[in-house]
Amino acid sequence: MERELRPMDAEQLREHAHKMVDFIADYYKTIENFPVLSQVEPGYLQKLLPDSAPNQPEGLQNVLDDVKSKILPGVTHWQSPNYFAYYPSNSSIAGFLGEMLSAGINMVGFSWITSPAATELEIIVLDWLGKMLKLPEEFLSSGQGGGVIQGTASEAVLVVLLAARDKVLRRVGKDSLKKLVAYGSDQTHSALQKACQIAGVHPENCRLLKTDSSRSYAISPDLLCEAISHDISVGLIPFFLCATVGTTSSTAVDPLLALGKIAKSNGIWFHVDAAYAGSACICPEYRCYIDGVEEADSFNMNAHKWFLTNFDCSALWVKDRNALIQSLSTNPEFLKNKASQANMVVDYKDWQIPLGRRFRSLKLWMVLRLYGVENLQCYIRNHINLAKYFEGLVAGDTRFEVVASRIFSLVCFRLLPPDNNEDHGNKLNHDLLDAANSTGKIFISHTVLSGKYILRFAVGAPLTEERHVTAAWKVLQDEASALLGSL
Ligand SMILES: Cc1ncc(COP(=O)(O)O)c(C=O)c1O
Repeated sequence: MERELRPMDAEQLREHAHKMVDFIADYYKTIENFPVLSQVEPGYLQKLLPDSAPNQPEGLQNVLDDVKSKILPGVTHWQSPNYFAYYPSNSSIAGFLGEMLSAGINMVGFSWITSPAATELEIIVLDWLGKMLKLPEEFLSSGQGGGVIQGTASEAVLVVLLAARDKVLRRVGKDSLKKLVAYGSDQTHSALQKACQIAGVHPENCRLLKTDSSRSYAISPDLLCEAISHDISVGLIPFFLCATVGTTSSTAVDPLLALGKIAKSNGIWFHVDAAYAGSACICPEYRCYIDGVEEADSFNMNAHKWFLTNFDCSALWVKDRNALIQSLSTNPEFLKNKASQANMVVDYKDWQIPLGRRFRSLKLWMVLRLYGVENLQCYIRNHINLAKYFEGLVAGDTRFEVVASRIFSLVCFRLLPPDNNEDHGNKLNHDLLDAANSTGKIFISHTVLSGKYILRFAVGAPLTEERHVTAAWKVLQDEASALLGSL
């Protein structure tokens, strides 16, 4: 008799999942032993795994052995306490449990009817988070707006750009697509450019306004006004503005209130991208950085960055949900149902690009319930204090300089070129980054500001403590000494 496949036998699940949880718990216990940045060469895995899938089943232990010996060496450990690159992407017990439960239930909640709890929990949890951020009432579900979980900030900006595009085209006529202009800055995340590409906005009409150190790399309202006036004068149609709170390079904060007023007076959709720094705004002392959000049409923060919610979970709020729905809804026969037809429910399929969607609100709900607002605020403050501490260490070493003012938990800094030669300085910092990351003891990343190669030290991994920051600084100092000594 052929062996029967039992892919979802409850007792087998219990046994295997316990093993897997043990494996993951051990991984976290020993995470500091791995080089934080994977040190493998491209193509390493092809050499280690067979060419084709096994005909016969293998045991879980065999697979876990391979994970240990073949997969983990090729993993960059984003949850390592020595991870300081890009921005964090937090995991937590609460987020993990929510993710696990979501995988267990494994429903696909595109319409309310396909799992009413999924839609309703998402509405409730985004209202909770919206209130924690003190977002204006119009963004909450009680009015014309509401929140939705997108996969990423890139999807968030895309869907609102599509809504804005279609809203303006309904007014000016669909043949005007080539005249539409979107605005951001040279610090705006490249997700804006990608959204323009996908939406059919001409690449030349994606205006990235120049920023500089005099305004800490924030958008100048005057420059924006000039650009808009010029575009209008040549017959173009401004339709979208993306401001950022906490830019990717250096955490610059665009002046929301001034930009919002300019957008409003020109009939432009105003989107605020607070993908990273939005989390900090749950603390009363950092809420001021989103002052002016009242003027926005949409606001986004990534709970999967610095908010203990496992990837992916990007929270987007809009003031006018109908604008999104008008752009993104479809109503095929096979999805029709009584609740949707009667307009009694939210069908999140009409607020996003794909049809299918996961039960992502579970993990955010778990994070909010298992930690509570006060703990989450302390979590953010602790990282900001650690970044302050690192900033002090850098400032105390005359060979280095802190570049751009630190606001949240990112410190931008560089090793000063001993001969004041900027080209040399760029190479020196590039070499320092490589040398530090090659030790496997820390992982940091870089950016370029005003033509200068800058090192970024972003605190935000859930396991990072002061001792890790101290040790990271020692690595950077030692590698700097070695580089300067070899000059
Ligand atoms: C300000 C900002 N916006 C957008 C993004 C893109 O995020 P996602 O990967 O969620 O699309 C990032 C990523 O770091 C970011 O820093």
